[in-house]
Amino acid sequence: MSKIDVQALIQRNELYQQLLDEVNVGIHVIDDQGETIIYNKKMMKIESMERKDVLGKDVMDVFSFHENQHSTLVHTLKTGKVTKNVKQTYFNNRGEEITTINDTFPIIKDGQIKEAVEIAKDITQLEYVITENVLKKKNDRFSFDQIVGSSMEFLSVIDEAKRATRTSSSVLIIGETGTGKELFAQSIHSGGARSSGPFIAQNCAAIPESLMESLLFGAKKGAFTDAIDSPGLFEQADGGTLLLDEINSLNPMLQAKLLRVLQERTIRRIGDTKDKKVDVRIIATMNEDPADIVAENRIRKDLYYRLSVVSLFIPPLRERKEDIFPLVHIFIEKYNALFNMQVQGLTEEVITILYEHDWPGNVRELEHIIEGAMNLIIDEESIQTHHLPVRFRKKYQKEIVENRLDDSSNREGTTASKTLQDKMDIAEKVYIQQVLAENDHNVTKSAKLLGMSRQSLQYRLKKYGI
Ligand SMILES: Nc1ncnc2c1ncn2[C@@H]1O[C@H](COP(=O)(O)OP(=O)(O)OP(=O)(O)O)[C@@H](O)[C@H]1O
Ligand SMILES: [Mg+2]
Repeated sequence: MSKIDVQALIQRNELYQQLLDEVNVGIHVIDDQGETIIYNKKMMKIESMERKDVLGKDVMDVFSFHENQHSTLVHTLKTGKVTKNVKQTYFNNRGEEITTINDTFPIIKDGQIKEAVEIAKDITQLEYVITENVLKKKNDRFSFDQIVGSSMEFLSVIDEAKRATRTSSSVLIIGETGTGKELFAQSIHSGGARSSGPFIAQNCAAIPESLMESLLFGAKKGAFTDAIDSPGLFEQADGGTLLLDEINSLNPMLQAKLLRVLQERTIRRIGDTKDKKVDVRIIATMNEDPADIVAENRIRKDLYYRLSVVSLFIPPLRERKEDIFPLVHIFIEKYNALFNMQVQGLTEEVITILYEHDWPGNVRELEHIIEGAMNLIIDEESIQTHHLPVRFRKKYQKEIVENRLDDSSNREGTTASKTLQDKMDIAEKVYIQQVLAENDHNVTKSAKLLGMSRQSLQYRLKKYGI
């Protein structure tokens, strides 16, 4: 072999280094000791770090991670697994939060993992994905930590749902439109062993009956005119979760077929003669009272019992009005970040109006009201009554004025039917929730600001189910 030309090698390394610095993705490579050996310019930009702070150092000494999260690089080094498009949030050596979307793979020589390579996506694409997630939570599935609520009823539904993450049993979620059924379904999926598998949602009322069968179970080539070999949603959701919304809209023949799949754990494509094994968790939803649906024979009883192994009833927002404030708080935060605003809260009158409304569209409606209001804000610090939709505020402003003028009137369903004590309780509760939310739920600090002892605040938290 010819003698190595060291000068040429250095030049070549410089060339590689330059190439790595030119590409528009972050590249980070660690050796089998977990120490960084390649760290390109784009990665420096993404992580706001200098090369000298990372090169030659153990990646776990330089970066820190949330308690239950690990470094995708170290994970790949240990397991040899390839991961794609994994979103990761961690902290650099100054404690600044970094979010990246990574492809990670091992370099294997002679059957040994020698290095792990991480490719972090272009920051502009990343920002796009993050904005998309905040807007529609499209690419990122919901998890339990994003479900907001403080009422006892709601917290106990969350507890039940969390218990359901340990198994693969079918789940039936019952709740009016906008109560968060999909949010719960996604959280159950994300919180369980299937989280790395697919999550597929299909509304059974949205598809013509004639297409539903092939959509769910797939078709074999020639099964009907133009039929090509196509997997159905069950096959696509294999290893994951299939959410079937408005399950009672499925026609009786398909209900029977679905029951068979649930019992046998196999499917057969239309026109096929062979069964295929599928491992899919079914989460079904209904937006009406199941007692009515069963009584009116809109669902097969045997299917209903099979699906409702775990039943979650999400109460409508009007039955848990104490959740309004924490939800508003989170939505204001969300749209502050999205619209680059600094809205602080709501006026007393807006709080009263929100409490009076009975929220037929539930949490979705509340979110739209806050988003709409924040679009109207110019430089005000709080959401004010004139930022609410016209019809909405006219109705409730009228009531507020009437109530102020005539607190003794006794019309049902309005504030006027409440005693002064009821009203003071609501006001007290709202104010306590506001102070708590503004102080990271620190009871000692909030009690101090409210001018009461820790014990009396704790008594009130219990009394109001906060
Ligand atoms: N407890 C909650 N915390 C935070 N956001 C919530 C909560 N409940 C609902 N949302 C928000 O409300 C919206 C509606 O939720 P979702 O789509 O899960 O409702 P749904 O019950 O499936 O409604 P539909 O029956 O109309 O399909 C979503 O944007 C979700 O982010
Ligand atoms: Mg839904």
